[in-house]
Amino acid sequence: MVTIAPSILAADFMNLQSDIQALQGNDDLWLHLDVMDGHFVPNMTFGIPIIKQISKITSIPLDVHLMVTNPNFHIVELKDSNIHNITFHLEAESNPLKLIELAKQFYPKVGISIKPNTPVEEIELDVLAHCDLVLVMSVEPGFGGQKFMPSAIQKIKQLKELQDTHALDFIIQVDGGINNETAKLVRDAGANNLVAGSYIFKNDQSEYANYINSLR
Ligand code: DX5
Ligand code: ZN
Repeated sequence: MVTIAPSILAADFMNLQSDIQALQGNDDLWLHLDVMDGHFVPNMTFGIPIIKQISKITSIPLDVHLMVTNPNFHIVELKDSNIHNITFHLEAESNPLKLIELAKQFYPKVGISIKPNTPVEEIELDVLAHCDLVLVMSVEPGFGGQKFMPSAIQKIKQLKELQDTHALDFIIQVDGGINNETAKLVRDAGANNLVAGSYIFKNDQSEYANYINSLR
């Protein structure tokens, strides 16, 4: 079963609690929280206080995607926020293995993300072996509602091959431009965790479940 991770970046921030609670009841769901610092990406979203509030109003496992220059800071500061998975960008960290080891003390799952221009080979094999998740960005990080970049498909296949060759076991997550058509492409390539913002949240709350199911 593929996990769907609705990204609240596309939710109605004036009615965030209501939008999140409208997701409740769907199986195999993560709640994707995009943290942007206005430096690693040219946009800002929300930070630690809002994530802590969200963790109090939902039982959906929280999936934090750090698009920040200094991920160490958020990894430490969010450690008591009941987060299920935290992902940082390879491009933002000179010692990813050390940061994974730190993060594993606080979170059940830890992931690494690569931007569209970062090849899979940039993730060293010993780092990959310690990842619970690899996030392939299928848009330039920073904004929702962008068009899916097909180059992500080859990267997913490559990760799948690395899993087979080296007996590795990590979740392959894809983020950006996911809809019912692109979902099929990335699933066929081997992704098992799909982030979707606009495709889900730009509908009435009563329709969320239908759109989620159409991605599976
Ligand atoms: C973009 C974010 C995504 C974004 C996806 O930087 O990481 O999670 O919310 O939005 P859609 O699904 O609209 O492309
Ligand atoms: Zn994201």
